[in-house]
Amino acid sequence: MFYNTGIFVTIYLGVLTIVAGVSHNKIQIRRGEPATLMCYFQDIDARESIRWKSKDGLLTSGLVVYKHPSNLEVQKPTQHDWNLIIKKVDDTFAGEYTCETSNEKVIARYLLEIVDAPRIIPERSSAFHEEFQEGSTREMKCYFSGVPTPKVRWYRGSMDAVDTRITGEILRLPDVTRYASDTYICEGENDVGSLNYTIDLQVNFPVEVDVMNEVILASVGDQPSLVCVVQGQPIKPISAYWADKNGIRIETAWQFIVTTEQEEGIPVKFITATFKAGTLGKHDFGNYTCVGAGNNGEAKKVTQLVERQPWA
Ligand SMILES: *[C@@H]1O[C@H](CO)[C@@H](O)[C@H](O)[C@H]1NC(C)=O
Ligand SMILES: *[C@@H]1O[C@H](CO)[C@@H](O)[C@H](O)[C@H]1NC(C)=O
Repeated sequence: MFYNTGIFVTIYLGVLTIVAGVSHNKIQIRRGEPATLMCYFQDIDARESIRWKSKDGLLTSGLVVYKHPSNLEVQKPTQHDWNLIIKKVDDTFAGEYTCETSNEKVIARYLLEIVDAPRIIPERSSAFHEEFQEGSTREMKCYFSGVPTPKVRWYRGSMDAVDTRITGEILRLPDVTRYASDTYICEGENDVGSLNYTIDLQVNFPVEVDVMNEVILASVGDQPSLVCVVQGQPIKPISAYWADKNGIRIETAWQFIVTTEQEEGIPVKFITATFKAGTLGKHDFGNYTCVGAGNNGEAKKVTQLVERQPWA
């Protein structure tokens, strides 16, 4: 029986050294995969046998397996082959192998290296979603396991991610600003493969309030709009509203139409209160306050609604 071709995943990196005319091949095998070490010899004489040796000593002689019997096998696709099969490679199989005759004539030498594709180490890396406070100095981390040790590269953005040209396991964010909120990708790469890990960063900051106009001039019967911009992160729990000059929250009713606009993913709310036609009376002039209140405190700003004087 001949082993299926999947077994020949062996990557020959080339000849390292030539010892007594025998090339010393470096072979890289992924942890957990099978390895085939080939040994071909024609001039065998009847009293000789072909042996495999490693750092563990004598492994096989002819078809007899002395060590790791459940994991090692000698296969002979032809009468001149004595291929050593390691069915499942683990770290203990790393090292040198020689195929030789019982007279110690070396036929083949190998250096077996165990390699492994990058895999994220979750307990040492940042979470999928991280929240930092604005102004703090923080780090995002990506640690990958793998052999050879993966190199880490950072990208920023969800669509059309940009290569930041920053490398290494740690991405330092000194004095982080709200504008750093984004999707970050760290890529771990080694000879075997590469893997991306995505971190969603949200930079939190206290609620801020601004008004579109500090003073609005209007006449009785006009329909002025009070417009307010409320920012803060997290934006969800922030309640934002206009209050009249008595401090009472303005709702959509007979006098006002109140709308709140917020774009998905942007930590800003617009609150607009507009007088309905014919409802603005003399006693409505005065100070209107926009209030933003959330986990991170409260902020206010005033718009003065001033009656336009006929001579102005
Ligand atoms: C990782 O993400 C970057 C940026 O989007 C991309 O260029 C790269 O091909 C990705 N690598 C893998 C292994 O998906
Ligand atoms: C209205 O607001 C302005 C600006 O904040 C302030 O100077 C003024 O004293 C306020 N007037 C009243 C009646 O509260």
